[in-house]
Amino acid sequence: MKKYPFLDLAEVNAPYMNEMVAAAERVIRSGRYIGGAEVEAFEEEMSQLTGAPYIIGVSNGLDALRLILKAYIELGRLKEGDEVIVPANTYIASFLAISDAGLEPVPVDIDPATLNLDSSQIEGLITPRTKAIMTVHLYGRIALNEKLLNIVRNHNLLLIEDSAQAIGARSALKGLNGKYSAGALGHAAAFSFYPTKNTGALGDAGAVATHDEELAATVRALANYGAERRYHNLYKGYNCRLDPIQAAMLRVKLPYTNKENADRFERALVYEREIKRDDVVKPLIPKDVNSCIWHQYVLRVKNNNRDRLQAYLDECGVGTDIHYAIPPHLQPCYSNLRHGSLPETEKMANEILSLPIATGTTVSDAAQIAKIINNAPF
Ligand SMILES: Cc1ncc(COP(=O)(O)O)c(C=O)c1O
Repeated sequence: MKKYPFLDLAEVNAPYMNEMVAAAERVIRSGRYIGGAEVEAFEEEMSQLTGAPYIIGVSNGLDALRLILKAYIELGRLKEGDEVIVPANTYIASFLAISDAGLEPVPVDIDPATLNLDSSQIEGLITPRTKAIMTVHLYGRIALNEKLLNIVRNHNLLLIEDSAQAIGARSALKGLNGKYSAGALGHAAAFSFYPTKNTGALGDAGAVATHDEELAATVRALANYGAERRYHNLYKGYNCRLDPIQAAMLRVKLPYTNKENADRFERALVYEREIKRDDVVKPLIPKDVNSCIWHQYVLRVKNNNRDRLQAYLDECGVGTDIHYAIPPHLQPCYSNLRHGSLPETEKMANEILSLPIATGTTVSDAAQIAKIINNAPF
């Protein structure tokens, strides 16, 4: 029986093998294993890709988010106890970064059409302590609209993008800096290059993007023991640097980001065309096609059929996953979190099912997977 793995990272990276080996050799021969030209070149190339003038390569996406928030605290623009509005449907890292900085995550429910934050519910959550919104471009879909931008401007809030899943995505709408790309839309953004991401490293890696020179300098110092320059520690910082070896791997893959994203879109279009079941709601194909890079292709399976469909697909050799089975506010570590009711997020958690979409799943595989879904005997 043919197998359709959910994700095979060796297949994802196989097309880059020769370039990666050459890049790894370059780093090994350079003798420079922390910082230096490789990381600087990566930052410059990431700046070109996103349009954000300042990029700081860091250890991972969670650290990128943590460093942004901690830098705002050092700069006096946030303080302990401030509230940050964040979508209830996100990977837990968005919440963890907020709590780790001594801030309070305030979850907002999602719009069932996009599975991203419902901006019409934000205003009802704003208190005098609300100082920032962390929008998450979940599954690679830009989460920004006029309403959100107006709230940010009218309430003088910070807009932080969790762009961990959205490299290369372009908003239909200009952000605060007059730019369109994920990472350049708000005041600061975090990227993750975790190996499963559309552009993934061979280990942990991340980046902070911003238009704010002062924030950039603070993040850079915080990521390097708080040192503004060598042995001059302005802050009680951390060691959250990007390794040159990962920067080199990413420099191989960055030029192919748009191609990787376009290939995913092609597979998404096959699913969109071929999956036909009354109990399955497919993800929206946005009018502005570049505003989603299909990090995940997430179905909603109605009539309590999600687990049955997942089990059936497993029997048929189709790997699937659930992003995410338990929303952060229902995780044990957030049992004391204050929050309002979040019915859409809680409902979707029992319905969502992610299909294979990365390199390794061909368009004919996608058509075959659609057929298997359509033929599930219930
Ligand atoms: C939405 C989101 N935010 C943050 C992160 C954290 O990134 P990392 O795994 O690189 O720490 C991830 C990914 O893992 C993510 O999907």
